[in-house]
Amino acid sequence: MSLVRAESLKAYYITKAYGVERVVKAVDNVTLEVRENEILGIAGESGCGKSTLMKTLLGIVQPPLTVVGGRVVYTVDGKDVDVTAASPQELEGVRWRHVSYVPQGSMNVLNPVRRIKHTFRDFVAHRVQRMSQAELVKWAAEHLKSLGLPPEVLNAYPHQLSGGMKQRVTIALATLLKPKVIFADEPTTALDVIVQRGVIQLLSRIQREEKNSLVLVTHDMGVHAHLTHRIVIMYAGKVIEEGSTAKIFSAPQHPYTQYLIGSLPVIGDKEYRVSAPGNPPRLDRPLTGCRFVDRCPKAMPQCRQAAPALVETGKDHKVACFLVSPEEEKESA
Ligand SMILES: Nc1ncnc2c1ncn2[C@@H]1O[C@H](COP(=O)(O)OP(=O)(O)OP(=O)(O)O)[C@@H](O)[C@H]1O
Ligand SMILES: [Mg+2]
Repeated sequence: MSLVRAESLKAYYITKAYGVERVVKAVDNVTLEVRENEILGIAGESGCGKSTLMKTLLGIVQPPLTVVGGRVVYTVDGKDVDVTAASPQELEGVRWRHVSYVPQGSMNVLNPVRRIKHTFRDFVAHRVQRMSQAELVKWAAEHLKSLGLPPEVLNAYPHQLSGGMKQRVTIALATLLKPKVIFADEPTTALDVIVQRGVIQLLSRIQREEKNSLVLVTHDMGVHAHLTHRIVIMYAGKVIEEGSTAKIFSAPQHPYTQYLIGSLPVIGDKEYRVSAPGNPPRLDRPLTGCRFVDRCPKAMPQCRQAAPALVETGKDHKVACFLVSPEEEKESA
């Protein structure tokens, strides 16, 4: 069963400067689902729209970001909630309980002039029944302890904690209300490798114990390989391949995914592995055809005329490429 669905979702940044409108198609016609009790990985080059997709799935859409098409649906206790049409009050009722968020660069989102216990107090205010300061501190301390942090952390200011501790505090906040789905956007960036491993192990332990779902955005393909059950590969605002982790690593079908997997170093390599040449297209320009066409070694004339649709090519495997999917998705530029 799906807990969160994106249906033909289009989320654009629409800005205007000196009378000129600029539209960045950061999420362009994305359809995907987050299933119960799974770790879903999201991978793709910098700027391909991963964080924008996260924010839109969470209903955190503020100008210049605008949802111009499609919708996001949560299934809460068997009932569908259309997040794109929900009021801020309705969203507040489901956010942090149904879905929660560890944002990109989350270590820096802790208020620098508030002790951690006050950040916890701000977080639970209006979200749980009123409780005394002593009750809250006890609850927060127990929760922090279960995540490997001592209770003294509650009295600290963010600058007194290491990067790894701050990241654990943000994970503690995101998991306090036992959400069904946790979105973690690059939770290990800017941490050293040992601390990275601790944070990843913590997130996967929470997922196993709580039997919730984790959506993990990371550039680290090693983390995808070891931790995720399914992977979504994004390229220039679109999902270009989606499948079980085993299939994505053993039989990638989109030429971009093939580059991504093929460029991973293996111990004993004698030669340098080749990654995709060139750069992704600008998302504020009209884009017709497949977005990978200028970098694709297998490009055909039809790839410039229309964008291939994401179609099923096998059990739990979808690909958007004319080499494997004949159907066309006509697109306006
Ligand atoms: N506020 C904004 N106004 C205009 N364009 C934006 C804004 N924020 C992001 N973008 C653009 O939207 C596109 C997608 O950005 P996004 O942050 O979602 O990418 P990302 O895949 O998360 O990248 P990274 O891996 O670097 O975090 C990029 O082209 C980016 O420049
Ligand atoms: Mg990002």
